[in-house]
Amino acid sequence: MKILVTGGAGYIGSHTCLELLKENYDVVVLDNFSNSCKESLNRVQNITGKTLSFYEADLLERPSIHQVFKDHTIDAVIHFAGLKAVGESVTIPLKYYHNNLTGTFNLLSVMDEFNVKNIVFSSSATVYGNPATLPITEDFPLSATNPYGRSKLVIEEILQDLYKSDKDWSIALLRYFNPVGAHESGEIGEDPQGMPNNLMPYISQVATGRLPRLSIFGGDYDTPDGTGVRDYIHVTDLALGHIHTLPKLISKTGVVIYNLGTGNGFSVLEMVKSFERASDRQIAYKITERRPGDIAACFADPSKAKKELGWEATKSLENMCQDTWNWQAKNPMGYRTHSKKE
Ligand code: NAD
Ligand code: UFG
Repeated sequence: MKILVTGGAGYIGSHTCLELLKENYDVVVLDNFSNSCKESLNRVQNITGKTLSFYEADLLERPSIHQVFKDHTIDAVIHFAGLKAVGESVTIPLKYYHNNLTGTFNLLSVMDEFNVKNIVFSSSATVYGNPATLPITEDFPLSATNPYGRSKLVIEEILQDLYKSDKDWSIALLRYFNPVGAHESGEIGEDPQGMPNNLMPYISQVATGRLPRLSIFGGDYDTPDGTGVRDYIHVTDLALGHIHTLPKLISKTGVVIYNLGTGNGFSVLEMVKSFERASDRQIAYKITERRPGDIAACFADPSKAKKELGWEATKSLENMCQDTWNWQAKNPMGYRTHSKKE
């Protein structure tokens, strides 16, 4: 079975390509490397001892997508490609809407043309906005608080409309909570360009000395220790969530929605302490103002995915911190540490 992975060179995409190859899927990657590099794919192939096909191509250029579908008989698409920095999406919304929405339109229209109607879409817990209660189930009300989140919400709605219009489509909307960690080999991991926006890469760069100190955004939330609580999920568990989704996607048409989280919430301070234990280093931090747009707490009820897909996260917070540290210590400058960035 041949899977097209858009954004396959990125953080979650590369880990998913690795698990797909391990499960003997044929993998074709389309990525414009706007937030990644080819080295991640080289390493995925080295780790698995298997090869994948890849196209350096942009979803904004329809003919490039067309070429991929002409060259390969694709059975299903896992669509990771997109821009994802929340803050940047507020500053340059048009770029976000253009890339995420137009890119998805182009992809869907080429899929339709080639009669490929199986797609897994990377959605996000951000579509739940500020939830009234916790844990979050898939039927909670949806809202968007920034252009990034709105692009996810709109794409979810477009995919629902598509199925209403044509019952041959099979669509999985996977709402990720907070992906962290790295493959246990330490060969692939998260490699943010410039200043990290997210907590884990920030903490790990403080641990290596690349950044001087973590700012903890708010110490007065209504949470056990006053700092924000999130549902951190190991990226390998998340990748396996996609592997478990594929058989259902292929076997039955319709739209299915799953939370991919662990169901556990950890605070920023708990993350810092756990990372200190894993790395045996002290993380300097200071509690500062709340970050605009942040919510106090967010964690999933992941029971639907367990019941219907037979998937659940198995890796602990300790695994997440150890694997992040292993990747960061081996690759202090990310993929540029050992190889020229391509
Ligand atoms: P990432 O930036 O590492 O990966 C995205 C990949 O898409 C990159 O390799 C980038 O080069 C590529 N890309 C972007 N625009 C493209 C275009 N127009 N054409 C071709 N390739 C393009 O991000 P990630 O963390 O791996 O996230 C993957 C998906 O999961 C994204 O859609 C993201 O919004 C979603 N998501 C991520 C998180 C998270 O915290 N990491 C949480 C929820 C949802
Ligand atoms: N935090 C800090 N300091 C930092 C970075 C983050 O204290 O330097 C705190 C935040 O305030 C929050 C927690 O750490 O309490 C997690 O923040 P992240 O930025 O790592 O993650 P978010 O929960 O804000 O958002 C992430 C992705 C979104 C996605 C969402 C839900 O960035 O794209 O998870 O999946 F929508």
